[in-house]
Amino acid sequence: MILIKGADEIALMSEAGRIVAEALEAIRTSVVPGITTGELDRLAYHLIIKKGGEPAFKGYRGYPASICSSVNEQVVHGIPSGRKLKQGDIVSIDLGVKYRDYYGDAALTCAVGEANQAAKDLMRATEEALWLGIGQAVPGNRVSDISHAVQKHAEAKGFSVVRSFVGHGIGRSLHEEPQVPNFGPPGKGPRLVKGMALAIEPMVNAGNWQVKVLDDGWTAVTIDGRLSAHYEHTVIITDGEPLVLTKLP
Ligand code: MF3
Ligand code: CO
Repeated sequence: MILIKGADEIALMSEAGRIVAEALEAIRTSVVPGITTGELDRLAYHLIIKKGGEPAFKGYRGYPASICSSVNEQVVHGIPSGRKLKQGDIVSIDLGVKYRDYYGDAALTCAVGEANQAAKDLMRATEEALWLGIGQAVPGNRVSDISHAVQKHAEAKGFSVVRSFVGHGIGRSLHEEPQVPNFGPPGKGPRLVKGMALAIEPMVNAGNWQVKVLDDGWTAVTIDGRLSAHYEHTVIITDGEPLVLTKLP
């Protein structure tokens, strides 16, 4: 784990985060019935390069694409392909950028056309859980205060949080210490200090929390086949409110 302290380091992390946010926004507005996840991946690749970044996921442990695109019961790490998105699907887009040795990582779930009410409720609860987790990212708290806030909200809405994938420190690597689970009792784990950079990323299932990885070695799906949503931001802990680097102003 590195602490992001100087103004110059914060500026570089912020630029990485901005490229992530802009690319995700462009993808979000491109998600329409009939587009393929492969087309979204190519859009992401070109936007990231144009802005002077590198796709952080491409080549990471052999991952073949710039984004993860996880449709419906797919939880995370769906590989972009020729699959056409259909009206009523939901798709989670996860995107990472390296900019001059600093990383940004964020994800969101969006509806293709219009989703049904159950899907909208799941997406909303997951995004709310993310923001409640971010609200705990203040000095003096511990990592699991974030975890607990996420879990409490997701479960209060009748959903369950995925256990086998977690958020993480980020900075000069895509994944650094500490792990940031989306479940657990409050008050445990490393204490949060100013300058820590974290990727907080709840994955929330409509049914139970169990997931498995498909034979492609990447795509995680819910075992019960029900929907899953995923939202993520990269934040830096400050003296006050966390800086959310992957959110557009
Ligand atoms: N945001 C994802 C994570 O933090 C990154 C996916 S890893 C990759 O786990 F291999 F798909 F790149
Ligand atoms: Co991440």
